[in-house]
Amino acid sequence: MRRLIQEYMRPHLWRILLALLFMALVASSTAMTAQLLDPAIKYLFIDKDPAMLTLIPLAVFLVMILKAAASYGENILMNYVGQRIISDVQIQMFEHLMKSDTGWLRQYHSGRIISHFLNDAVLMREAVSRSITGIGKDFLTLALLVGVMVYQDPVMSGIAFFILPVVIGFVRQLSRLMRKSVNRGMVETGTLSTLLSETLAGSRVVKAYGQEQHEIRRVSQSIDRRMDFIMRGVRARSAAAPITEALTGLAIAGAIYYAGARALSGNMEINHFAAFLAAMMLAYQPLKSLATLSTALQEGLAAAARSFSLMDIKPSITDKPDARQLVVNKGRICFENVHFSYGDEDDEALRGINLDIAPGQTVALVGPSGAGKSTILNLIARFYDVSSGRLTIDGVDVRNVTISSLRRSIALVTQEPFLFDDTVRANIAYGRPEADSRDIEEAARAADAHEFILALPQGYLTIVGEAGMRLSGGQRQRLAIARAMLKNAPILLLDEATSSLDTDSERQVQEALARLKQGRTSLVIAHRLSTIMDADCIHVIVDGRIVESGVHNQLLKQNGVYAGLCRSQFNDAEFAETPKTPAPKRRKRSNEAVEKTD
Ligand SMILES: Nc1ncnc2c1ncn2[C@@H]1O[C@H](COP(=O)(O)OP(=O)(O)O)[C@@H](O)[C@H]1O
Ligand SMILES: [Mg+2]
Repeated sequence: MRRLIQEYMRPHLWRILLALLFMALVASSTAMTAQLLDPAIKYLFIDKDPAMLTLIPLAVFLVMILKAAASYGENILMNYVGQRIISDVQIQMFEHLMKSDTGWLRQYHSGRIISHFLNDAVLMREAVSRSITGIGKDFLTLALLVGVMVYQDPVMSGIAFFILPVVIGFVRQLSRLMRKSVNRGMVETGTLSTLLSETLAGSRVVKAYGQEQHEIRRVSQSIDRRMDFIMRGVRARSAAAPITEALTGLAIAGAIYYAGARALSGNMEINHFAAFLAAMMLAYQPLKSLATLSTALQEGLAAAARSFSLMDIKPSITDKPDARQLVVNKGRICFENVHFSYGDEDDEALRGINLDIAPGQTVALVGPSGAGKSTILNLIARFYDVSSGRLTIDGVDVRNVTISSLRRSIALVTQEPFLFDDTVRANIAYGRPEADSRDIEEAARAADAHEFILALPQGYLTIVGEAGMRLSGGQRQRLAIARAMLKNAPILLLDEATSSLDTDSERQVQEALARLKQGRTSLVIAHRLSTIMDADCIHVIVDGRIVESGVHNQLLKQNGVYAGLCRSQFNDAEFAETPKTPAPKRRKRSNEAVEKTD
């Protein structure tokens, strides 16, 4: 609560104060409306004073104008503050998400994060604006109306107040029900957005496996569940009004009975009764708001607690206070007895890796899937930090340099290149937005992408579609290579950059990659051994350890794991330049390889 006030409300202090002033005006004019009935009836109907004929309607009109203007001002200000709070919370959350550790982000489905991101900020705004309005307007209005009631008829007020706690109790009960279902509806919204983003991203798999009906069923079930929760909330909310109204009716009936009894005995004046009744009826609205305030507040505070605890998770991969800029002269990469686990310490992904990659060399990592090859690249880019041991670039521990300078020195091309739904040009220039057209074209040429880009409907200005879906796999990959080319980093990491391509596109991409590797220290993971046969050194990784190292021919002669992998890949094709068939599913292949080498 304190943090919500200090960080999000304080910057808008003067707006809030002004809004409170307007609220006070609304509250007093509301009370005034009821109070005015007293003189109106007294002077016009009982005393029949002609001088009051214009005065009283004028006063009523002015009070209403005042209330309207103040309401308008208060509304605008409170909405501004509320929306500003939503925006501030969301910007901070997003900044935090962008800076979070890869490992942390991966624990959550993006759909759930998005739904949190959208909902929690709304709940926080609700709590803030409801409590300000609650104190500034509803409470004050109620107090003033009660003042009018007591002033008009203290005894009758006593009768009416009898019903008050009952009304409050009821409304609170119902609003708790309501909130509960709203909350469960929100959880369901998270599930729904997860489902939606998943099935849309995987639409080809859905279709290929004929699971459209299954997905339609899953999504509609989620939508139905959500609707069910929403309807429960609606029922509770809809019940709240009539029940409170019925109870208020009881209070009014009681007051009328009492007033009537007194009128019959001749000591009840109509003007007092009218003003009293008006005040009582007007009290209903603020009463209802106040009764539901605490639930809204609790919800908002719970949302704030969730968001704050999320924002307070300190990323573990950060710059040290004395971090230096990494200046890569040569680009020597050394692993010194590196151990690493993703979580469970007994289950290490890397178990003592020693690697020395000389500047300008191309080093290949091969091995069965799950061996730890990608993990090695993840550590170089510092997506994760080593559990023990050391990883140096040009002799400097990567943990001692700034992350930005480290990542500037590294270009990473992965199996599934990620393209943004933007122009070809913007996608290539992603790492260097200031690059000019000449540089971009040059990079595209070197990546063998220039030709096909020109053939696109709008050339370099063609929008590539969500995740680049309007391009073929080979085209996407060549754009990714052009992006890496333009970045011109001294260290190149290729993680199965060609594994998802057919042999033709692979050949094209290979040529582009060969150009990209020139003059850089390159670490290449390849599933197809044909693509790494000419590497300066090949390391075979099995189960987090390097089991064999050497050049292609040496390793073949050793007749160990590598030779086994080769045999299983090239079959009888006597080490053809390129395998005849594109490799089938990775996992299956590598299991075969492991079995054979066992
Ligand atoms: N983000 C992750 N969280 C937990 N475990 C992971 C993660 N990524 C990979 N692993 C595990 O670490 C091991 C090595 O994975 P990886 O380096 O991706 O293998 P490779 O690239 O050789 O196929 C595997 O057992 C895998 O299950
Ligand atoms: Mg991998």
